[in-house]
Amino acid sequence: MISKIALPFLRCLDAEKAHNLTLSALKTGLMTRKAKTPSQALSLSLFGRVFPNPVGLAAGFDKNSDVPDAMLGYGFGFVEVGTVTPKPQEGNPKPRVFRDVSSKSVINRMGFPNGGSDVFEENYQKFREDGKNKNGIVGINVGKNKDQDDALADYVALVHRFGKQADYLTVNISSPNTAGLRDLQNPDELLPFLRQLVIVRNARCKTPLLVKLAPDLDEQQCKDIAKCVLESGIDGLILTNTTLDRPETLPQAFRAQMGGLSGCLLQEKSLNTIRIFYKELGGKIPIIGAGGIDDAQSAYAKIKAGASLVQLYTGLVYQGPALPAKINHGILKLLRQDRYSSIAEAIGADHK
Ligand SMILES: Cc1cc2nc3c(=O)[nH]c(=O)nc-3n(C[C@H](O)[C@H](O)[C@H](O)COP(=O)(O)O)c2cc1C
Repeated sequence: MISKIALPFLRCLDAEKAHNLTLSALKTGLMTRKAKTPSQALSLSLFGRVFPNPVGLAAGFDKNSDVPDAMLGYGFGFVEVGTVTPKPQEGNPKPRVFRDVSSKSVINRMGFPNGGSDVFEENYQKFREDGKNKNGIVGINVGKNKDQDDALADYVALVHRFGKQADYLTVNISSPNTAGLRDLQNPDELLPFLRQLVIVRNARCKTPLLVKLAPDLDEQQCKDIAKCVLESGIDGLILTNTTLDRPETLPQAFRAQMGGLSGCLLQEKSLNTIRIFYKELGGKIPIIGAGGIDDAQSAYAKIKAGASLVQLYTGLVYQGPALPAKINHGILKLLRQDRYSSIAEAIGADHK
């Protein structure tokens, strides 16, 4: 995909243009490889599947499910496609994605631009029929349309539609770029909302249902949400989405952009969120960790804090497609150093 030669060129372009060029190149399928055979020590059984390695591609990179095949071929152990909404929508006005190379971060306020669930389903089914990696693990991340006031109705429709097709479903209620979306995280609203989605899922399939949360929650909010999660029958958490924080060290013009910040500066905050939830949930509900992962150490830190799997997006922007293989190689070394024979032994090690 984004070779070492193409990376500097792509960095000169507007961030979204560079991304779309990359997607177009990947969509040709010319660069799609079959995923390599995994190392036993990196594999993990979870949600009734064997994940070949713990490093996944986070949501937002492939909103329309155009390129899961290519991304699995680059060595991701699983890929999350979406956020898909029921109807197509444009998203916010451009420009809406900004990079700051000095801090290796990104601010985005995309607002779920996507082709809607018909286009998404066509792409997804094509991958499942013809993909070189068609048996790879692909989760579907769902969200509500901007003009939908009844959020639950959109999530119900999408859980119903994609439940049988996805390896797991992610209920995204943590994007900062859709007005009111994060309010669904309020415990009073959250419990009935999640219960309803679990009922819809149960009536249709057994596909694991995960919820993706923001890093901008204080400890008490995390504790309250953890209770809702345990009571609702939800199968897993993705921690975390982007942050509204703006560290002082960021260049002023970048810092002033509205949207969610991702990349290195999110690392500690998401790590802390994982720690709190792992402790509150007593390790009973699996966590997928995301936020600023750009090397083996940052991935391994999330696993030791309580994540069973990890995901990344922004690291890929700065380091290109060799990153998942590089991280997996590094995790193997770190496991050996700590005398663990598998990922499963390292999960939550910080709490023992
Ligand atoms: C440009 C961009 C678009 C994103 N779009 C989505 C999205 O549609 N749905 C979602 O759940 N998360 C989305 N995210 C958040 C990522 O999935 C991830 O949770 C977050 O960026 C933290 O990981 P990172 O620091 O490795 O990027 C997006 C992130 C970026 C940078």
